[in-house]
Amino acid sequence: MKVLVIGGGGREHALAWKLAQSPKVQKVFVAPGNGGTLLDSRFECINITQVPSLRAWAASEKIAVTVVGPEGPLAAGVVDEFRAHGLRVFGPTQAAAQLESSKAFSKTFMKRHGIPTAAFEAFSDPAKAHAYVDAMGAPIVVKADGLAAGKGVVVAMTAQEAHDAVDFMLLDNTLGVAHNQGGARVVIEEFLQGEEASFIVMVDGKNVVALATSQDHKRLLAGDLGPNTGGMGAYSPAPVVTPDVHARAMREVILPTVRGMEKDGIPYTGFLYAGLMIDAQGGVKTLEFNCRMGDPEAQPIMMRLKTDLVDVLMAATEPGPHGRLDQVDLEWDRRCALGVVMAAQGYPANPRKGDVITGLPVDTDDAVVFHAGTQQVDGKLQTSGGRVLCVTVLADKVKLAQQRAYEIAAGIQFDGQQYRTDIGHRAVKR
Ligand code: AMP
Ligand code: GLY
Repeated sequence: MKVLVIGGGGREHALAWKLAQSPKVQKVFVAPGNGGTLLDSRFECINITQVPSLRAWAASEKIAVTVVGPEGPLAAGVVDEFRAHGLRVFGPTQAAAQLESSKAFSKTFMKRHGIPTAAFEAFSDPAKAHAYVDAMGAPIVVKADGLAAGKGVVVAMTAQEAHDAVDFMLLDNTLGVAHNQGGARVVIEEFLQGEEASFIVMVDGKNVVALATSQDHKRLLAGDLGPNTGGMGAYSPAPVVTPDVHARAMREVILPTVRGMEKDGIPYTGFLYAGLMIDAQGGVKTLEFNCRMGDPEAQPIMMRLKTDLVDVLMAATEPGPHGRLDQVDLEWDRRCALGVVMAAQGYPANPRKGDVITGLPVDTDDAVVFHAGTQQVDGKLQTSGGRVLCVTVLADKVKLAQQRAYEIAAGIQFDGQQYRTDIGHRAVKR
């Protein structure tokens, strides 16, 4: 079989790495891939980004199944396009991807279907938004409605910060948020306290299979300080997701979401990622939905997956009203996996490109350096984006995985590199 992974980040490298291990797979194509997938003979990078051209290419290559990594192509309708031409693809349709691409859509969806989430209101009128901030007081959370690559959320500890965020998101057009239909909009919501976890499942329109749990570190700096990022590191499993919390997340969040989408006439297919806030009593609230795997959560999760991912994708994309994920049992490595993201100078605001990367080790079964923002220039590996690498390690104990990942990271050099020194700290403490 030939398979295709769409995207070029660390998550896509991890998906491609896992797919390449299948004895059924002859070739893994990655579109567009990165400096790491280009180096590796198991992969072939395809430089086509336009959706109709990619679909035509996939049809001519007889790609057996395609898996979509990032939210951009999903929100642009890549799944609809592939399916309309009879191609198997794992991901949500454009309509279903609104669970991520529109905060207003996902919040009203959750309200309508009784899915626990923070209380909220949506605004496009700045005066009303400011009045709401004054009425509710701080702390309070302001979110831009459109896709903003993880930069559209301000957790305001003072009312002034919330007012500034409203002005920034509604008045200025500097954020780089892709506004949804109807123009700029913000969601303002109740501040939730607790511990976050990433709860990711695979859905075939009806059936659901949960992936191993994980936890991400969103802030740039150790101690959860500094600006929000796409994620500076992750590990799996997340001890905060006890069997009881797991059952509640499935019962109260995931299943009502899948049933609700079915009922609303937009059946959900693809990875579904619920960002959960878990309180001290084990109560679960949904912070957000992503319609894809997490990055960097995918890197540790893929390292722990023992089941052949191609079999799972084929089951999930079986033609018909829904797939056969009900027949799939995922097997996980009992060890834990931990990934440390190495980011470029200036990330997240203004990442510098073109720094030469040296000291990469040879991958082993239990230590893999996944690439993200890397490129090959004149035979040299260089940085080409904000998050550059994710050093991912499997070990018996999270502490050991952490130590080993940091040993490997210490041997890798590029100018301006930044990484957190405390990835996994919550799990180490437990
Ligand atoms: P989101 O993209 O909606 O997940 O928000 C990004 C990050 O902001 C989350 O991972 C949380 O750390 C934080 N956050 C979002 N919503 C809330 C909330 N209602 N209360 C507290 N923190 C939040
Ligand atoms: N790591 C968070 C995300 O993928 O959205």
